[in-house]
Amino acid sequence: MSPEHSTGVACSEHAITPPGGEIRFFHTAIAPRCQELVAQVLRSTWVGEGPMVREFERQLSTWGLAHPVAVNSCTAALHLSLLAAGVGPGDEVILPPQTFIATGMAVLATGARTVFADIDPNTGNLNPDDLPRRITEKTRAIVVVHWGGLPAPLDRILEFAQAHRLTVIEDAAHAFGAKWDGRPVGSISPFTCFSFQAIKHFTAGDGGAVCCPDPELAAQVRRRRWFGIDRDRVQRNRFGGRLLAVRELGLKYHMNDLAAAVALGNLEAFPPRLKRRQQIGAWYRRELADVPGLRLLELSPQAEHAYWLFTVRVEDRAGFVEKLAQHGVPTSMVDTRIDTNPVFGQSPQQLDSLPGQKTFESEQISLPVHDALTDEQVEYIIRVIRSGW
Ligand SMILES: Cc1ncc(COP(=O)(O)O)c(C=O)c1O
Repeated sequence: MSPEHSTGVACSEHAITPPGGEIRFFHTAIAPRCQELVAQVLRSTWVGEGPMVREFERQLSTWGLAHPVAVNSCTAALHLSLLAAGVGPGDEVILPPQTFIATGMAVLATGARTVFADIDPNTGNLNPDDLPRRITEKTRAIVVVHWGGLPAPLDRILEFAQAHRLTVIEDAAHAFGAKWDGRPVGSISPFTCFSFQAIKHFTAGDGGAVCCPDPELAAQVRRRRWFGIDRDRVQRNRFGGRLLAVRELGLKYHMNDLAAAVALGNLEAFPPRLKRRQQIGAWYRRELADVPGLRLLELSPQAEHAYWLFTVRVEDRAGFVEKLAQHGVPTSMVDTRIDTNPVFGQSPQQLDSLPGQKTFESEQISLPVHDALTDEQVEYIIRVIRSGW
């Protein structure tokens, strides 16, 4: 088990064994087809960016995602999106603290400053009401995170951004398969960034994608993922040397065919897996809605949740976690607020200006929600929670 897989409060050896055996917090699904496709790539010896990457992008676009560009991580996707949005030194980017540190690091990598806006403790997502307090004449972009796969209120955020000429970049690392207002996340904002990292609900081992409705921005991202070079148009001199005239900063951020083979193998199997997560999520919501001391996150009728995480708010979190651990049910906060990291240079006053984040930080905890859970195990988890802590 990798350190990432052991995230959260582990269950002790003396814990009660749940029905059907050990319950894991995360479950990495690798479809059998991945093995065939990886073997095909290895046999071909074309292990760099090639036909598998192109096929993966083509298949993603048939799902309604806008001009998908496959990259080697969501961190790379965020960095490329910020660069393509023109973010650079002297600019400010608004983002929520309720995320993984990668979101903030991508902003810092452009030379821009991170400005943290408050979240709504009822969802864990950026609170649009707080945006007017955070904007200055230096603001260039807003990065929106869909915590755990629950879409943030995109209508209001996009409306605010449009009124102030800001670019919206969705950090959809948790939200592959989610929808907002019936539209797939990845088809709405100027930039959407996905993560296909090892413990996500859809994995390539490591990987990511940027989706852009504007084909020119997508083409720019595509160039920048490989040193700013348009691979389809590269010409060579008669000695085989590339004739380059690179005009923009590019990096080595492309996906390779081995990762794309894993992604493609998993893509076929993804719809039923997502459905199972959504079924378990709906089941928890039904059965845990009236449990004293526990609050469900608010689910807008416009939001279709991807359920990478099932996060709840619990007043006596320590008691809750302990009770579940004793019964063999792992839990985790997954991420703590990122703005407290000294790298972001926030003053105590700035840290204190986020009451929604403070509440969420003290109460949030996630339950296992993946598709390896049996019905019996879900029923068991619900029963353990309903018996109190
Ligand atoms: C919200 C969020 N953004 C970005 C990332 C970075 O993703 P990657 O590991 O694919 O770079 C993660 C990773 O877990 C994440 O949770």
